[in-house]
Amino acid sequence: MNHTGNAPFSEIAQPPQRLPVAFAGVSLWSATLAQPEAVIAHWQTWLAPEERQRAERVTRPSLRYRAIAVRALLRGLLAQALEQEQAVSPASLHFQTDAHGRPSLATPFANGAIRDFNLSHSGDQLLIGILHHTAPPSWQRIGVDLESLQRSRDTARLAQRVLCARELRSLEGLDHEEHQRRFLHYWVLKEAFSKAIGAGFALGFDAMDFDIDSASPPRALALPTPHRPGDWTLQFLPVGPSFVAAMALGM
Ligand SMILES: CC(C)(COP(=O)(O)OP(=O)(O)OC[C@H]1O[C@@H](n2cnc3c(N)ncnc32)[C@H](O)[C@@H]1OP(=O)(O)O)[C@@H](O)C(=O)NCCC(=O)NCCS
Repeated sequence: MNHTGNAPFSEIAQPPQRLPVAFAGVSLWSATLAQPEAVIAHWQTWLAPEERQRAERVTRPSLRYRAIAVRALLRGLLAQALEQEQAVSPASLHFQTDAHGRPSLATPFANGAIRDFNLSHSGDQLLIGILHHTAPPSWQRIGVDLESLQRSRDTARLAQRVLCARELRSLEGLDHEEHQRRFLHYWVLKEAFSKAIGAGFALGFDAMDFDIDSASPPRALALPTPHRPGDWTLQFLPVGPSFVAAMALGM
């Protein structure tokens, strides 16, 4: 396998798939982390020492392979997006993380063709959102979140902690499956917004209120100060029947 920056996934059987979402300057990718060992072994060579060390700390091989695949797929997709301006190989990218762990591209790749990116993984599935410099200036940050519908969770208890009173009322009377599905739709919006601004779980999720009932895309009714609902574009993403996913654009 001889992957350079050019078409980094041209030789793999299950390359990342671009999601059909029509936003200027935004690309969204869905990818499987379950790849043959030979691909994983090659992808490992793209990783920076700290990424490799992080993966090596994971003792279960299947989870270690996933950790390698996350970083390699991220590197490959970002390199591919940067290639429009300069020849970039996946291995040559540098990252930095802020105090809350939010990753971004570091010098000399910061402030180039990619304005921002974000990722989320659940089981063997990976979701990556890239905000290109061609996007409208009102979008400076992207956040994405992906959750499996198959993982069992105590959504009744979680809902009490993270939903606002209006959202909670909308779950009343639903059977378990519908409760779980609706809760996860709220959850992915909250997490996508929170990841866009970089706060992660540090943010009070119950200070957000999302309307997911109108025929139009979801919208924020309330967000934690100083964020304004009207500044944010939200969208659920078509990631297949087993997952729920959302994207938040704004700031
Ligand atoms: C961000 C966060 C919500 C992700 O939760 P999750 O549902 O388990 O994971 P997801 O699959 O959706 O996203 C994980 C990816 O988001 C990115 N990420 C990590 N922290 C992030 C943040 N604060 N904002 C946006 N994205 C973040 C990473 O790339 C991560 O993938 P990686 O660890 O494989 O590189 C959670 O890790 C969090 O709250 N982090 C903040 C912790 C914090 O405040 N620390 C402060 C220490 S002082």
